[in-house]
Amino acid sequence: MTTTKIIIAIDGFSSTGKSTIAKQLAKTLNYIYVDTGAMYRAVTLYAMRHNYISAENFKPEQLIQDLDNIKLSFSFNPDLGFAEMYLNDTNVELEIRTLEVSKLVSKVSAIPEVRRKLVQEQHHMGKDKGIIMDGRDIGTVVFPDAELKLFMTASADKRAMRRYKELLDRGDNVTYEEVLFNVEERDRIDSTRKDSPLKKADDAVEFDNSDMGLEEQFERIMSLVNSRVKN
Ligand code: DC
Repeated sequence: MTTTKIIIAIDGFSSTGKSTIAKQLAKTLNYIYVDTGAMYRAVTLYAMRHNYISAENFKPEQLIQDLDNIKLSFSFNPDLGFAEMYLNDTNVELEIRTLEVSKLVSKVSAIPEVRRKLVQEQHHMGKDKGIIMDGRDIGTVVFPDAELKLFMTASADKRAMRRYKELLDRGDNVTYEEVLFNVEERDRIDSTRKDSPLKKADDAVEFDNSDMGLEEQFERIMSLVNSRVKN
């Protein structure tokens, strides 16, 4: 007897622990995990390196003209247990997680042409199902027919503290206040943009994990998965 593979869409605000849950689910279910935020971050890194965007400047039309030269791919790293992001065949996993990229990524991800390119690639990755994708528009735009949709939230200060600790652990020189500002600013831009704004799909199950441990969340989500997978 084979188990039907499904699509699991995880959306929500930044730093709500979507990727932690998604990685754990992917390992348990032997599914592919796709971090779509990493794709938007990689396009942003490319735009920064080509001076299409900085704190002072934003030249979306130049980035749009150059989009065909951006090749994104994931490669599974068995030591880490998840796939790392490659930009034009170079591993950019570390570079895309800096606060500099976080400060500019919401502007880049509001460009419709960028979204069109990435959504097309995401569709392709999900064609055989057995996939867990996290982002902002997975349950609403990328896979509106996903068998299971989750929507993650948590208070802004809890999220900022998680992100602040991650950045400190990496050795980045940041303050809690600037991380909190970035988390709130990205929520605002991501939720109010015209194209594919962040919003809960009507049929998504909402999780506020401000005070919920990883184990409890995982157990609840696994029972939802089991209810959706037909044997
Ligand atoms: O998941 P993340 O915080 O790494 O995502 C970075 C940014 O990318 C986020 O602030 C908005 C954008 N994004 C998006 O617009 N659509 C997605 N599906 C995923 C991310």
